Amino acid sequence: MTVLVAYASKHGATQGIAERIAESLTAAGQQAEVRPVRETGDLGGYDAVVVGSAAYEGHWLKEARQFVQRHRDELAARPVWLFSSGPLGTKTTDGQGRDLREVAQPKEIPELKEAIAARDHRVFFGALKPDRLSFAERALRKLPAARAMLPEGDFRDWTEIEAWANGIAHDPALSGQPTGPAGETQAHESPGDGQDPSAAP
Ligand SMILES: Cc1cc2nc3c(=O)[nH]c(=O)nc-3n(C[C@H](O)[C@H](O)[C@H](O)COP(=O)(O)O)c2cc1C
Repeated sequence: MTVLVAYASKHGATQGIAERIAESLTAAGQQAEVRPVRETGDLGGYDAVVVGSAAYEGHWLKEARQFVQRHRDELAARPVWLFSSGPLGTKTTDGQGRDLREVAQPKEIPELKEAIAARDHRVFFGALKPDRLSFAERALRKLPAARAMLPEGDFRDWTEIEAWANGIAHDPALSGQPTGPAGETQAHESPGDGQDPSAAP
């Protein structure tokens, strides 16, 4: 099984997450290749795909959205997992007590998930280094409303990222077991009275 980990990253944080996912998949016994979405070709050589993008102003980067649209049929025919590299800071809930990972979910995720029957989508905290930002991004960060939402720092939770990748590595879809329409493992019926099926005539 070869898994493609395709990512869209503006300033490197999402690339780092994609690389760690690929490393974790490899450590768990899968073959994994990590590539920017714009450098991927035909998906025919991959058995499964992980697609991730940084979130900016509530959306995935355009190149990641286009990747999913362009490869829609190929992705729908394979197990696919999505991730977003999103919120910043050490708080996990907003002022109203809502989980920041849910609040930060990019707007197109439900539609993309449905279009390709993705098995999961996960929001990870991201990272921001001010010296990497564009002039416009730096200006935006100075606005009072944005300042609190865009703190400097690396908030990527490597333990959580590795655990998610490990779950993918051990998903029945990658171990060749048959799965149901919702991605669930099909129940293996016992041969009636629990006898060893190999003993049947
Ligand atoms: C101008 C700007 C806008 C951002 N907008 C969002 C946003 O809407 N939602 C979110 O969760 N994170 C947002 N972020 C945080 C980034 O998604 C986060 O820093 C991410 O890890 C960056 O990934 P990258 O380095 O791969 O581009 C924003 C960051 C900047 C600088």
